[in-house]
Amino acid sequence: MIDSGHTEPREPFVIQGPLFTLLNDNSVNTYDYFDCGSMVVGDQGRILYVGPSVPADYSHYRIKKTQHLIFPGFIDAHVHYPQLPVIASYGVSLLEWLDKYTFPEEAKYSQRLYAERRARQFLELILQRGVTSAAVFSTIHQEAFDALLGAASYSGFNLVSGVTGMNRGAPDDVLVDVGLFKEISSKAMESGLGVERFRYAITPRFALSCDEEMLDYCGQLLEINPHLLMQTHINETEDEVLATSNLFPRSTDYLDVYDAFGLLGDRSLFAHGIYTTESEYKRWAASGASVIHCPTSNTFLGSGLFNASEYVSRNINIGMGSDVGGGFSLNPFVTMSEAYKVARLGGKVLDPLQLVYWHTLGSAKAINQADVIGSLESGKWADFCLIDITSDDIGFEVWERSRSVQEKLFGLMFLLPDSSSRVVETYAGGISRWRDTSCLGSK
Ligand code: GUN
Ligand code: ZN
Repeated sequence: MIDSGHTEPREPFVIQGPLFTLLNDNSVNTYDYFDCGSMVVGDQGRILYVGPSVPADYSHYRIKKTQHLIFPGFIDAHVHYPQLPVIASYGVSLLEWLDKYTFPEEAKYSQRLYAERRARQFLELILQRGVTSAAVFSTIHQEAFDALLGAASYSGFNLVSGVTGMNRGAPDDVLVDVGLFKEISSKAMESGLGVERFRYAITPRFALSCDEEMLDYCGQLLEINPHLLMQTHINETEDEVLATSNLFPRSTDYLDVYDAFGLLGDRSLFAHGIYTTESEYKRWAASGASVIHCPTSNTFLGSGLFNASEYVSRNINIGMGSDVGGGFSLNPFVTMSEAYKVARLGGKVLDPLQLVYWHTLGSAKAINQADVIGSLESGKWADFCLIDITSDDIGFEVWERSRSVQEKLFGLMFLLPDSSSRVVETYAGGISRWRDTSCLGSK
């Protein structure tokens, strides 16, 4: 069960055990690792200290000792909460997959009770996997957005989301005309105001499902309100790229479509980016926008192989997303291991620290929150999970024999799928939100 923590006072505490975190210093490979570290969590849910021992100022705080690895909460920078039952839809590529499986499921979210049940289920499943923040696609329906916002504010989850914009290229029950979209979006933005740990993202689904008026309105919103983010899809499959150029014949490329409507900037998150061209990379890099790598989706749908080096070499920020239900798992370790395999197929070998970076600090940067989440550092939210490193025999052997932190992390990624999730407890804002009650390892 998700624990809202609303009635619980946030008693300050120290958690002690093996601890890993990357550090937010603009490099991907600066980290702290302690075999026995201490993290002090204050009464406001923020981290007061991380280090090898407890400073005298906090020595009177209650100490929780754990044998599990204390790890930063993961950030899923691209996921569709209405697509849980779409996982494992067989045998088709993106555009057919949308028509055949995804749109029919999303149509159900006009029903409030259905949406509420799915939103609670989504948050429970994602917290179980150590994810404490996510940029989440909803549907066109106000009920769907309200359900997610309500469930997230109850669970302490750090949420980025918005009403999905779609006014063409799909069945009527998942389309909304621009007039109604304006109305629903205004209400949604208003209801999000003052909700702790929520940030609104303008969410045009992708160019194929939005006409010029829709994209133009989205661009206006982004321009007017500097607090808003923007999330969408780009360059995911060759068919989609071709269809987009047919629909927007005056645009030079896919990124140009978004740019023409003011949707390209440093508050923009673009998922996939597989078929990005040279001129798009240049423009992308200059804009400060992030790309969200969704490897499980790209392999499952057969979309293609993301070329991370092209983005890394241009200093384009990379975040990581499960893209459920194109992606088949909400588990960050599965996503990271899939990214490793995708890179191998492109002839590259990724450093495990790089993979962890994309799923924590890179994703935090993508949602413009690297100052408050993405690593375990003083002043940030105490968003973390506890990862069981001892109860799986082979996993523990690999952990112990690893000569470097990189090797330890790599073992966690690849020995995990056999034993489902190794996360045994997840904290958001310093409060335990989910705990595996079958696990007695954490005191
Ligand atoms: N492009 C437009 N909509 C979607 C979606 O729901 N999933 C994926 N993977 N790509 C999209
Ligand atoms: Zn997606």
